[in-house]
Amino acid sequence: MSALFIPPHAPPLTGEESLVEATWKFIRNPVEGFGPLAWSQPIVTAKTFGQTLHVISDPEGMNEVLVRQASKFTKTAIDARILGPATKEGLLSVHGDQWKRQRKSVAPMFRHRHMADLAPLITTVIEDFTARIDVRPKLNLADAMAELTFDVLAGALLGDPKGLDREKLKTATRAVVTGAGTLRPDDLLPFPRWVPRPMSPRGSAALKRLKRAADELLSERRSHPQDDLVGLLIGAKALSPRERRDNLIGFFIAGHETTALTLTWALFLLGRHRPTLERIRAEVRAVVGDGPVVYEHIAQLPFTNAVIDETMRLYPPAPMLNREPQESVEVLGRTLEPGDAVLLNNYVMHRAERLWDNPLAFDPDRFLRDPSLKKKGAPYMPFGAGPRICVGAAFATMEAVMVLATLARDYDVVVGENVFPRPLMTVTLRPEGGVPARLVRVGGVAATQMQGHCERCRIWSGTPPVTKARTKPIQSVKSVPSGSP
Ligand code: HEM
Repeated sequence: MSALFIPPHAPPLTGEESLVEATWKFIRNPVEGFGPLAWSQPIVTAKTFGQTLHVISDPEGMNEVLVRQASKFTKTAIDARILGPATKEGLLSVHGDQWKRQRKSVAPMFRHRHMADLAPLITTVIEDFTARIDVRPKLNLADAMAELTFDVLAGALLGDPKGLDREKLKTATRAVVTGAGTLRPDDLLPFPRWVPRPMSPRGSAALKRLKRAADELLSERRSHPQDDLVGLLIGAKALSPRERRDNLIGFFIAGHETTALTLTWALFLLGRHRPTLERIRAEVRAVVGDGPVVYEHIAQLPFTNAVIDETMRLYPPAPMLNREPQESVEVLGRTLEPGDAVLLNNYVMHRAERLWDNPLAFDPDRFLRDPSLKKKGAPYMPFGAGPRICVGAAFATMEAVMVLATLARDYDVVVGENVFPRPLMTVTLRPEGGVPARLVRVGGVAATQMQGHCERCRIWSGTPPVTKARTKPIQSVKSVPSGSP
């Protein structure tokens, strides 16, 4: 048992803060707004802004809300406020029978047989991307990965439509995701659903542009049908024109930033932890050789898959989910009432001491040692769970593994010594300030710059990390104390 690589972590509250201080920290960065009780207990209940808030950081409790009693919950007004303006009638936002009907139409679009068809497109986008970075290796990984995953999604959803200005669509989508779609302090106040969310003129202009682009695209497509995801969306007879448009926008919003963040954090970790980069490189060289990574390789790259899993454990792109009970519901011994807010805290659950060994350490092997961590009931839910589990999970995983495998095989990731970004929750979990880095073709100058040991960042570049042999077994919930998070 020796060196563990501990990447950036959002520091929890100490429990010594005043209520004002604690609230301020939570508002500025929700993942930093939980104290010892929320970190150690499966459920805590508190009054915030006059509303009862239950914070659940436990697999049993999450399964109760997301799976077993899912029909008794809806998403909350916060989701409606942030997502509603862009995708009010899409799968991300709707409930009840409307959700059921839409899910039935949309889920088949993301089935495995379509995934295999989409993989060559990902290969092409990766090739275009690497051609660009060979010329311009200095980049901000967060921006670069957002561009790459947008291009993948645009290709998968739209094919190559005539007359569509992809750059315009990309700019509008990015502006919506990073502007109007970003959590603001006023979003945490318990406004009723009918209170409109004020938007900056830039935000509402971007949203208008995005809606116009989506409308134009769908109408162009009706006259020139193609066999891609939009083709399937248009063919979904059960959806109204407005639902089609809001789903298209929903896919763009939900589908590129999340995967981009997974890749950004993963590359950051590889840049900081050379042994992991080298293990992926060796695995990919052995399985793939020098050629493109294709769909069939994905299942043969267990370590690369484990690095993606471990990245999403430490940095879940959706760090918290929200629900609101529609009737009284018993969860972990508490009664959740209509009007209460329920926060399903993936960030804390994925790092809780009582559920994981060395929870703050970057240790992809834990997923290889204990495959049950990917099964139902495990304290690991980056894609949610139950009927509303992420519809694009297979697509996102395929893309993330293909991109990471290619980049780790062919590039050294050079991250500046002072780059140690704070995880910042803005709906998704972003590295504050992005990750300035250089991606340098293997054989370039990068390798020599990777040597050394940074005390502040606790980075090792020489030997692989050694960790305990097993993760803790999933614990059942015995005590359910009450208190303030
Ligand atoms: C690493 C990438 C991704 C992560 C971590 C992620 C995470 C999630 C999570 C946690 C949920 C559940 C939300 C809740 O229950 O409140 C969700 C739902 C959803 N995701 Fe993803 N997602 C990713 C990629 C994608 C992609 C690529 C698409 C589509 C192109 C997508 C489309 C959706 C949609 C439409 C829903 C709503 C499903 C429903 O309510 O039935 N996501 N995602």
